[in-house]
Amino acid sequence: MTDEQNSVTLGTERGSVQFPIHRATEGNDGIVVSSLLKDTGFVTLDPGFMNTAQCESKITYIDGDAGVLRYRGYPIEQLAEHSSFLEVAYLLIHGELPSPAERDSFIERVNRHTLVHEDFRTFMGTFPRTSHPMAVMSSAVSALATFYPESLDPYQDETIELATVLLLAKARTITSYLHRRRAGEPLLYPDYSRGYVDDFLRMTFAVPYEQYDADPVLVDALDKLLILHADHEQNCSASVVRITGSAHANIYASIAAGINALSGPLHGGANESVLKMLQSIEKADYDVNTFIAKVKNKEDGVRLMGFGHRVYKNYDPRAAIVKKRADAVLETLGVNDRLLEIARELEEIALSDDYFVERKLYPNVDFYTGIIYKAMGFDPSMFTPLFALGRMPGWIAQWREMMNDPQSKIGRPRQIYTGASKRDYVDVTAR
Ligand code: CMC
Repeated sequence: MTDEQNSVTLGTERGSVQFPIHRATEGNDGIVVSSLLKDTGFVTLDPGFMNTAQCESKITYIDGDAGVLRYRGYPIEQLAEHSSFLEVAYLLIHGELPSPAERDSFIERVNRHTLVHEDFRTFMGTFPRTSHPMAVMSSAVSALATFYPESLDPYQDETIELATVLLLAKARTITSYLHRRRAGEPLLYPDYSRGYVDDFLRMTFAVPYEQYDADPVLVDALDKLLILHADHEQNCSASVVRITGSAHANIYASIAAGINALSGPLHGGANESVLKMLQSIEKADYDVNTFIAKVKNKEDGVRLMGFGHRVYKNYDPRAAIVKKRADAVLETLGVNDRLLEIARELEEIALSDDYFVERKLYPNVDFYTGIIYKAMGFDPSMFTPLFALGRMPGWIAQWREMMNDPQSKIGRPRQIYTGASKRDYVDVTAR
């Protein structure tokens, strides 16, 4: 390759400056602008990081125009069809699919760590029952650092591996406790002989001392939903995890920060907002066309929640899989939910309406998931914690990749200052 193909030239007041191009294996190549300030005196301004790659990554690939999502090269459709959540977690974190022995020992290790310290159970019981579970979840994940200090050293491979297993294991227990605390029910102990999702459903929904057998269709559906949520490259929460970890904050603190970012309705909180939106349409008894008109008129900032995405300008491949699953789950449970009909009507209208077509707004992963979670018996406030449970492997993989990257530096963006110039302090009596 010639020099010209490996760099771009920027003409500035101080002459022209060359910047190297960093090639991608797939997707957009990047212009390396780190020396721009030193060479030209300029910084780049990119609110919302619309055009800024913060790192190079080998974990997840998205082609937003074609509606493609792959973890470590494997298409999401194949993983959702043939894999399991913990196998996908291993793949994301370690880079390759595990051998049968590696898979079994990983699953066994995670299952064995699902029990939490008794004091941690007490701690989970100290939050008001009415607290939003996302606030409790981020506090609980942050608190793991205090209960498992032996897993904190970010520079030792074994401690990072221990923290990885602890996070996957404890997050499952924490999520079931979030549900039970809200319901005023006792917190159950794990049963190591059951599968990760099977036992999660038992710990969440079982009546103490009564036999609980989770419906295999529901176990499979939830396992697939967790796979679909497992990673999504440099989204808002993953970026928060990376930037927190870039200060060498411990992995629990970094992921707790990611959980807080995920709670926002423009991010993971959208799944709860979608259900509230569908319920408000149902209750208000106005038809979906009236609601769509409100969205298009941007009345009171109303958005069609579960629609649109920064990267996908095509159907979100995760939404396509979830939509199919919603039918199967509702049929298995014998649930006839009017909300599913409303969602389908909204989608049909939106996909043929100029407002949405011109802006390339399609259903995203959050559009149909809430309907499934609701049918399974989850309160809407639990939808985003379920997203967080699924996203745990992705956050861990992103944090580990960042820590192992020799190019990593503390995240510290620049700004363009537009405030007052220097002025002298005025005493309060003179103001
Ligand atoms: N309903 C109505 N209009 C929308 C929507 C929507 N859901 N999403 C975007 N738009 C409009 C927006 O008003 C703007 O219009 P205009 O050009 O007239 O100003 C245009 O589309 C571009 O929107 P944007 O806000 O600049 O796009 P963005 O890339 O900054 O935002 C988004 C992406 C996901 C925050 C946004 O689409 C949104 O708010 N969607 C609803 C919330 C949601 O479903 N979030 C879950 C995302 S997927 C799961 C996850 O990653 O957590």
